[in-house]
Amino acid sequence: MSAPAFLMCPPDYYEIAYEINPWMSVRRAVDKAKAERQWTDFYELLTQNLKVKVELLKPVAGLPDLVFTANGGLVRKRIFIRSNFRHKERKGEAVYFEKWFRKKEYIIKTVEQPLCFEGEGDALFMGQELYTGFHFRSDVQAHDTISGYLRTSYFALELTDKRFYHLDTCFAPLNETTALVYLAAFEAYAQLILLENIPDPVRVSEDEALRFACNAVVVGKNVVIPSGCPETTKELEKRGFRVYALDFSEFIKAGGAAKCLVLRI
Ligand code: ARG
Repeated sequence: MSAPAFLMCPPDYYEIAYEINPWMSVRRAVDKAKAERQWTDFYELLTQNLKVKVELLKPVAGLPDLVFTANGGLVRKRIFIRSNFRHKERKGEAVYFEKWFRKKEYIIKTVEQPLCFEGEGDALFMGQELYTGFHFRSDVQAHDTISGYLRTSYFALELTDKRFYHLDTCFAPLNETTALVYLAAFEAYAQLILLENIPDPVRVSEDEALRFACNAVVVGKNVVIPSGCPETTKELEKRGFRVYALDFSEFIKAGGAAKCLVLRI
C-alpha cells in the first residue's frame, strides 16, 4: 500500500468563536500557545516519525474551524468531492478547499444544495467499503450522490448522540478487518450493520470515546490517538499496532482531535 498523504491547516486563527456542537463553549477559550504546540507535535510525528507527506492549506482569518480539514471534502484517487457545511459558521470554508484541490488538478465534484455533506468527517473507507454517517451534519441523500461519483455502494449509519455528531468521532477503520467503534453513538440498525460487517470491531468504552479514542489516525501499523485512552491502547497493541498517544485537549474544546485535523488526499 502506498504511503498516505494528508492535508492539514495550521491553527493560526483557531479559537472557539461560536457553538455548533455540545463540546464548544465560547466561555471555554483555547490556550493558543498550547494549541499551536499540540498541532505541531502531531504534524511532526506524522511527517518525521511516520514519514507521511503532509500538504498545508493556508489558514484564513475568521474561519477558526478550517484546522479541521477532514470536513473539507472526500478524496478518492483524483476525485475531490467538496463539502456543503451544515452550519453557516463553517460554510465559508468550502471555497478554500475547492481552490486548493482545483489548483492541484483534482476532478472536483459537488453535492447539490441544500443537501449537507461534511466530507471525511462523515465518510470513511474500510478497504473498499464506504461507511457514511448521517443525521447531525450530513444528509443521507448526499451520500447517494457521492457513492454515485465513486461508483460504490455504501453503508449508511445513523448517528444518534449529539456528542458524537460526525462519524469519525465514533468510528475509525484501521485496516480491512479492524475498526474502533463506540457502538452507543449509533442507531440500533446501524449497530447491526457494523457488527455484521466488521470482522474485528474494537468496542470503545464511553469514557474513552468521550476522550476521542475513535478519532484516530492510522498510518500502516501506527495509530495516533488522544492521550488518556489506556483500554483502547491495549486493544490496539494486542493487534500489533504501535500507538502514539498525543494531547489534543485544545482541539477537543471544539469537538475534534487527531482524525479531524487531517484529510486524506
Ligand atoms: N468545531 C468543528 C465542528 O463542529 C469540529 C469539527 C470536527 N471534525 C471532525 N471531523 N469530527 O464542525
